[in-house]
Amino acid sequence: DELRSMGITPRIGVIGGSGLYDPGILGDAVEVQMHTPYGFPSDNLIVGRLAGSWVAFLPRHGRGHKYPPHKIPYKANAWALRAVGVSSVIAVSAVGSLRQDYAPGDFVVPDQFVDMTKAREYTFFDGPRVCHPQIGVEPFNEEIRRLLVEAAAKYNKVHDGGCYVCIEGPRFSTKAESRIWRDVYACDIIGMTLVPEINLIREMGMCYGLLALVTDYDIWVPHQPVTADAVERMSAEKLDLAKKVLVDVIPRIPDSLGEKCSREMANACI
Ligand code: ADE
Repeated sequence: DELRSMGITPRIGVIGGSGLYDPGILGDAVEVQMHTPYGFPSDNLIVGRLAGSWVAFLPRHGRGHKYPPHKIPYKANAWALRAVGVSSVIAVSAVGSLRQDYAPGDFVVPDQFVDMTKAREYTFFDGPRVCHPQIGVEPFNEEIRRLLVEAAAKYNKVHDGGCYVCIEGPRFSTKAESRIWRDVYACDIIGMTLVPEINLIREMGMCYGLLALVTDYDIWVPHQPVTADAVERMSAEKLDLAKKVLVDVIPRIPDSLGEKCSREMANACI
């Protein structure tokens, strides 16, 4: 309400991953502490201007990286972004690669996912109204995907499409698991935070797109098992490129996009 009374209406939300804690790309930035029915989000929102649009930024792990993937307050994060008026979310994440041609340092803009998490809060629809959201056809908004691929290609190698398998963590996969994700589930990249982030953001009627940065080859390349240190190092190395993509893509996202995603959710409930 305070933001609205100041004429600040962020339509685009950005969720930053490992390495991306403070965007430093927003003008006239104000920090907003949000409290939601699901507690506090990962951190204060940073709301600021980017090329004429207002943007709300949220670091997924909190500044100082205080939330591991299975403890991120996903519900509060989605609620907070919706509460300030966001209709489209662009997320940035570090991922492992499950295929040779998606190399460390490359960007991937995925179009499907498989959920292999085990113990998270997946939905706002806990009854008594029963809802079955259909996000399977286009879990990631195609318009945002297209804009992300176009923008990313200007700055780095980018792969258009891919299946993201989300594991529970916080441990990395065993060799046997990694083989299953790759050969049986036919997935291309692996991470620990997409689910339930995408479910909850879509349930709130917002569109979702992901810019994934490949930080490692998971564990299936012999003698090169992924380490937390390697993930952090590659994230830091490519941070400026990810910011450039965001600066490029955010002004191109039409305000009207959110209507499609909120309409899809309007049909979810019995
Ligand atoms: N995040 C970055 N690399 C990863 C990997 N190999 N497995 C799971 N999450 C990751």
